[in-house]
Amino acid sequence: MSTSNENDGAAPQRITVVGTGYLGATHAICMAILGYDVLGVDVDPGKVDRLARGDVPFFEPGLPEKLAEAQATGRIRFTTDFDEAADFGEVHFICVGTPQKPDSYAADLRYVQSAVRELASRIHGDALIVGKSTVPVGTAADLAELADEVSPEDARIEVAWNPEFLREGFAVDDTLHPDRLVFGVASEQAEATLRDVFSPIVDEGVPVLVTDIPTAELVKVAANSFLATKISYINAMAEVCEATGADVDSLSAALGLDDRIGSRFLKPGLGFGGGCLPKDIRAFRARAEELGVGDAVAFLAEVDAINIRRRTRTVDLIRELVGGDLAGKRVAALGAAFKPNSDDVRDAPALDVARLLYLEGAHVTVYDPEANSNAHRAYPDLDYADSLEEAVVDADVVALLTEWSEFREASPASLEEAGAHPRMVDARDVLDQEAYVAAGWEFRALGRPAPQAGRVAARVPAH
Ligand code: UGA
Repeated sequence: MSTSNENDGAAPQRITVVGTGYLGATHAICMAILGYDVLGVDVDPGKVDRLARGDVPFFEPGLPEKLAEAQATGRIRFTTDFDEAADFGEVHFICVGTPQKPDSYAADLRYVQSAVRELASRIHGDALIVGKSTVPVGTAADLAELADEVSPEDARIEVAWNPEFLREGFAVDDTLHPDRLVFGVASEQAEATLRDVFSPIVDEGVPVLVTDIPTAELVKVAANSFLATKISYINAMAEVCEATGADVDSLSAALGLDDRIGSRFLKPGLGFGGGCLPKDIRAFRARAEELGVGDAVAFLAEVDAINIRRRTRTVDLIRELVGGDLAGKRVAALGAAFKPNSDDVRDAPALDVARLLYLEGAHVTVYDPEANSNAHRAYPDLDYADSLEEAVVDADVVALLTEWSEFREASPASLEEAGAHPRMVDARDVLDQEAYVAAGWEFRALGRPAPQAGRVAARVPAH
């Protein structure tokens, strides 16, 4: 396939990015920063308008500055018009969402299908459609067939897969400086085009793995399943610690110092949430069952179950600390986002805990530095405070549910001064237990024994 290069005869100059959520907006903006002319496409005119005005519609550190930088070069535009997108260039990235279906564990592919249909039906000549969305293995082959069916006779469309590994909160850095690039291709031409497109990143020495398309589709779900499994592994150990009086924080530190295990994603606590890990492990199970290899990933059901049990266990600790009955008790719920430095509340463990407390009759006041408005939209019945101080006023118990630095850095004395009763449940295992106990707080943490006078406190090296 030839590329519409105008400068040096190698790299394509024009790129479209369909879908301008976390993944697509970041990819589009970073591609413009790398020197391409980029057209971001979305079916949501509200999103397109905001991005066009230089306003990133979600919280992502560093991205608004990058959007401003890209817009200052004049190399990025946003549109809802697929005619314009199909005409714009020859490389089209698909970055739309693949959420869980409402009635099953499988991935809902209607947005990727619709993006490919809208684009392919308008393409004339050569084009490479590059999927970045997380999809069940086999999806690209179906999309290639779909593109073939709907495209005009003079279209020559190829599909490739380039899975994206960016983390929310680190999206810009993960896009510009990824650990690796995976190109799932069916032809040398597609590989050459992807190498051209990513040349500014490849030239920095980032490893490139060229694979067949099914492998590229699998890499992403396999990676997310591994990460989810690692988190649930340490949280399973937390359950065992709770039954034995052992301390999962020290256990995690000791395991993590073994190079073969490593300490990353071995942090015990309330577990994983967000728009990726939970739905990806479920979709993987659903797809494996369809393929007749459900047994191979049956363990992911346990990974999911361990993760969900951390939420009910947190509610148990909070209930215990207020004397066994939550009805009428005031709980300050610190955090709503699924992790710090994000305003994303999709499948957020923190909000799930807040909801469970509410259902038991507690009066729950939620405070999150960035996610209050998204949380309010998802759970309007909960109360929301505008500050940490306001959240803890008269609280019978404070629960740290998302480990924002504002919460980690708050002192036990300042929280008590703001009006909290000195009872803390640390569901993310990040607070200085000794400092809280010394300041007179009753303190409970997931997977850690209740502090007792005379007990040797675990000394965990920084990890
Ligand atoms: C995840 C993957 O890390 C990315 O590589 C992937 O590209 C992305 O999903 C995706 O599929 O698009 P993300 O969902 O942004 O990224 O968040 P992570 O930083 O992976 O955290 C996931 C969850 O695990 C969070 O709820 C976090 O609180 C939890 N977590 C993480 C733990 O409970 N313990 C840990 O030790 C680490």
